[in-house]
Amino acid sequence: MSLSVVILAAGKGTRMRSSLPKVLHPIADRPMVNHVIDSARQLNAQNIYVVYGFGGDVLKEQIKGDDLTFVEQVEQLGTGHAVDMASPFIKGDEDVLVLYGDVPLTKVSTLERLLAVKPDNGMGLLTVHLAEPTGYGRIVRDENNTVVGIIEQKDATSEQLTINECNTGILLVNGGDLKRWLSQLSNDNAQGEYYLTDIIAAAHSEGKIITTANPDTEIEVEGANNRVQLANLERAFQLRKAQELMIEGATLRDPARIDIRGELSIGAEVVIDINCIFEGNVELSHGVKIGANCILKNCIIGENSEIKANTIIEDAIIADMCSVGPFARIRPGTRMQRDSHVGNFVEMKKTTLGQGAKAGHLSYLGDSEIGNKVNIGAGTITCNYDGVNKAKTVIGDGAFIGSNSALVAPVTIGKMATIGAGSVIAKCVGDEELAVARGKQRNVSNWQRPIKK
Ligand code: UD1
Ligand code: CA
Repeated sequence: MSLSVVILAAGKGTRMRSSLPKVLHPIADRPMVNHVIDSARQLNAQNIYVVYGFGGDVLKEQIKGDDLTFVEQVEQLGTGHAVDMASPFIKGDEDVLVLYGDVPLTKVSTLERLLAVKPDNGMGLLTVHLAEPTGYGRIVRDENNTVVGIIEQKDATSEQLTINECNTGILLVNGGDLKRWLSQLSNDNAQGEYYLTDIIAAAHSEGKIITTANPDTEIEVEGANNRVQLANLERAFQLRKAQELMIEGATLRDPARIDIRGELSIGAEVVIDINCIFEGNVELSHGVKIGANCILKNCIIGENSEIKANTIIEDAIIADMCSVGPFARIRPGTRMQRDSHVGNFVEMKKTTLGQGAKAGHLSYLGDSEIGNKVNIGAGTITCNYDGVNKAKTVIGDGAFIGSNSALVAPVTIGKMATIGAGSVIAKCVGDEELAVARGKQRNVSNWQRPIKK
C-alpha cells in the first residue's frame, strides 16, 4: 500500500522565544523539520503534508521539495484538527503516518517497525514506557492487553495516571479510516481541543486491531519546546553520528566532542582529535589524521594526509600525503597536490600548491599557481590586490622564494628561479635567475648609540 506522511508543524513555539517558527530551529545546522522530512523520504512516502500555522513564508522558503504540500492550520484547535487539515488530500486506499516537525530524532528503523506491525485492517501506534509519564497521553489497555484508547493527562483518572505506557503521537492509519474518524471528533474534553488521540477509541469500537511498536530509546520521540531541549537533541544527534563513524572504523579521541553538520564520509584508519567541526560535504580518505579544534567544510582530504590542530579548511581539495597546519587557513578554491606542506599561520585562497611544494610559516598565498617542489619562505606574501582588481602570481617548478618576499601580482617567477629574502618582486623573473630587490645593507663602524638626555 502507498504511504503518505502528515507532519504537524503548526505550533508557534512560544517557549523558544524566537521569531523563527519552532520547526525551523536547527539540529546540526538543518531545520528540525528537515530531519523529519528526510525520514519520510527514506520511507518512500508518496506525499508529505506539512501542516503549518505560523511563518508559512519562511517555512516554504527554507524547506522545499516537489513531494511537499503545505497545508495551513489557521487556528490551533488540537492535533486532530491539525491532521484534518490534510484530509482533503488524503486518499482512502493509502496508509497515513503522522509525524511531528519538532520531533527530529525518530529513527527510520523505528518507523519501519511501526509500518511492519500495523495490521491491514487496523492501526499502528508508537508508544514509549516512561518512568516519568506526566504530561503524556496514556495508552489504555483492557484485561486482554488490547489497546482500547488514549487518555490525555488532563482528562485522566488518578488510576489512569499510573499507566506509564505513553503516546508518542506517532501513528499509522488507513487513510479512509482516518478521514472518517477525524470527521467524528469532538472537542468536549478538559482542553476543549480536537484530540487526534480520540481516533484510537473510535478504531477500537469499530473492532479494528491496534498494534504498538516502541522506539529503541526515549530520545527518538522527544520534542524540542525550548532551547534546553533543543540542545539536548543536538547532543544526542551528534553522539549518534559519532557512534556511526566509530562503527565505520574511525577513531574519535572523544565521541562527545565532535560536531557533524553535514555529510562526513571516511576511509579506513581515520583518526579525529577533539573539538572538530565538519560542515557540508567532507571526505576523509584512508589514514587521514585530523588534529584538535579543526573546522572542515566542503573539502576532500587525500590518503594519509594530516590536518594539524586549529586548522580551518573550506571548499578545498587536499591530495594524498599532505600536511596542513597547525593554525593554517585554507580558503575556497585551494588545491594542494600530493605531498605538499603548509605550516602555521599560512593562509591560502584560490591557489594551487604543486607536488612536494612547501610553505612552512606565516604566508598569504592568494590567486596563485605554485609549481612542484617550490619552497615558499617564511613571511612570503602574494600581493594579489591593488585595491580594485585581483591579479595572479605564477611560480615555476623548483623555485625558491626567500623569506619575507612580497610578490606583486601579476607576476611570474620562472622555474628554478631564486628570490632573495626580503625582496619586493614586481617584475617577472626568468627560469633559473636570481632576483634580489631590497635596500642595500650599509655597515657603519664605531657607531655611537644615542645617550639619554
Ligand atoms: C500530544 C498527544 C499526547 C502525546 C504527546 C506526545 C494529543 C491530543 N495528545 O500531546 O497524547 O503523549 O503529544 O508529545 O494529540 N499541533 C498542531 N496543531 C494543533 C495542535 C498541535 O500542529 O492544533 C502540533 C504541535 O505543534 C506539536 C504537536 O502537534 O508539534 C503536539 O501538540 P501538543 O499540543 O504539544 O500536544 P501534547 O499536549 O503534548
Ligand atoms: Ca507536546
